[in-house]
Amino acid sequence: MAYGHGKVILLGEHSVVHGRPALAISVDRGAEVTFTRLEDAEHTTLHIEPWGVDVDSGVETNEGREPLQQALRVARGFYDDDVDLALSATMRLPSGAGMGSSAALGVAVLRALDEARGLTRPDGEVYERSLAWERVFHGNPSGVDNAMATHGGVALFKRGEPLTRVVPRHPVSLVVAYSGSSSSTKLMVDSVARQYEREPERIGKLFDAIGAIVMNGKLALEQGELKSLGQLMTMNHKLLSALMLSTDALEEMIAAANEAGALGAKVTGAGGGGCMIALVDDGSRHAVAEALRALGKTVYEVESGS
Ligand code: PMV
Repeated sequence: MAYGHGKVILLGEHSVVHGRPALAISVDRGAEVTFTRLEDAEHTTLHIEPWGVDVDSGVETNEGREPLQQALRVARGFYDDDVDLALSATMRLPSGAGMGSSAALGVAVLRALDEARGLTRPDGEVYERSLAWERVFHGNPSGVDNAMATHGGVALFKRGEPLTRVVPRHPVSLVVAYSGSSSSTKLMVDSVARQYEREPERIGKLFDAIGAIVMNGKLALEQGELKSLGQLMTMNHKLLSALMLSTDALEEMIAAANEAGALGAKVTGAGGGGCMIALVDDGSRHAVAEALRALGKTVYEVESGS
């Protein structure tokens, strides 16, 4: 079985598209892909559960699923052979929620295509190939989702540079909750790019401030200062709100998490919907998760190793 990790961005989404660093953590959920061989098929198919989605690289168009069909063609296009497969994916991540579902699926599909051919490809190449997959969905991915989907763990990511592993002094506990509405990463990334174009100086300074928060967050993780990390997450959230990436539902959830004792909370991923994350400790984990469930939200508890 081939696997791609889901992730959450602890600090630094959006500014990472514009060259600043981001801090991300993989979650113990992701995409799993298995395959069976198709004889004389000359096309590759992909079935995705629990979404109930099917695409086929061989038909003219999969109505309403064109980007996914195109991504599958891109992945198949890396091989110049007649090995064709029926791929079956199981997604344990919500889609359009800021948990890196499309990158996780891309990495798992690419690994399955290799596995079927008896190939073991270095992670760096899987990452590069998965960027081509991701570009189908949004034109200008920073690569953070793909790097995390490929490698997992806790890491500092900067565009165009190799991933830097971060070793937290203490395990990091997060409560992740889905706002109930998905959002388009492409539209949110485009909206931030337009703001940057209109006001390069002000927005550039805001990106720099987020970059500084990220570097301080890395230190806080390494030194086990989770209270400081929580404060940095809250500061990052305010800057993301200034970029108009929050929503009423996310604000309500973040306030509820903070009232229930979270060390800090913020939107995670593209924003405009999707998920929020709250940093918790043993004393607050249960209360924060319950407060979010009481709002009717789907809650994931994430624990990352030290
Ligand atoms: O919403 P997601 O999981 O696709 O997160 C995207 C993170 C962004 O920084 C908003 C975009 C990017 O390419 O880094």
